[in-house]
Amino acid sequence: MKTYIVGNWKLNFTVGEASIYLHKLLKALPNYRDIEVVVAPSAIALQPLSLQVDRHKMKLAAQNAFYRDYGAFTGETSFSQLRGLADYVIVGHSERRYILKEDDKMIQKKVAAALRNKISPILCIGETESERAFGETADIIRDQLVGGLAEVSDDDLDKVIIAYEPVWAISSTKAAKMASPDEIAEVVRLIQKTLKEIYGVKTAEKVPILFGGSVNSSNAGAYLTVPGINGLLVGGASLILNEFVDIIEIAKRVRS
Ligand code: 13P
Repeated sequence: MKTYIVGNWKLNFTVGEASIYLHKLLKALPNYRDIEVVVAPSAIALQPLSLQVDRHKMKLAAQNAFYRDYGAFTGETSFSQLRGLADYVIVGHSERRYILKEDDKMIQKKVAAALRNKISPILCIGETESERAFGETADIIRDQLVGGLAEVSDDDLDKVIIAYEPVWAISSTKAAKMASPDEIAEVVRLIQKTLKEIYGVKTAEKVPILFGGSVNSSNAGAYLTVPGINGLLVGGASLILNEFVDIIEIAKRVRS
């Protein structure tokens, strides 16, 4: 399985800034076959960046899309419109769950719509600080996983990526804390167990599990060596080119 290093740019960069960043990243990036480098710019930048990107070196992801392909849905962008522009899409990010009020039903439809349009969903799941404090982590993880994957067939599961992002570890969370490798490993085991229960061992083992939450070049090595972790979903640090390139280099070293 490849190692995934995904940069989630969130609501940052103008189209021009995104294009300059991509230009520099492509220049700095060797063609690593075993590392899948992905960046997720704002929707407005996807079209120009899709013409600029060298898909042998890296891929693009959308940060979101709507589950219907067309119709009277003012302000939305569909997965069918993103076909050919993005190879991946982030679905169920906590900022969409909690700020934009997306629930598991909506996320489930988005995962299905992504697959229908040949875009691989990166399904984000993770508990809040109070859910963890109340001992609800396992239930939340299981519910978000079962809910998000409800419409995914056995045949399609190998196109899905799971990202574990504890909300309390995301840098934009007030007083964010660092997740420890042991805390992550415990949740990864739960994700693997749940996937195996739904899809069987062989199919479940094909699903990459990423970690996201204040990842930077100082902790990337430790997070990448957590058993069961196949990559990282990087927020703030992915906006700094040198940091992002360092994280990719660390991933390469950890693999070899
Ligand atoms: P930070 O790396 O800024 O904590 O963001 C994590 C995240 O939300 C990535 O999707």
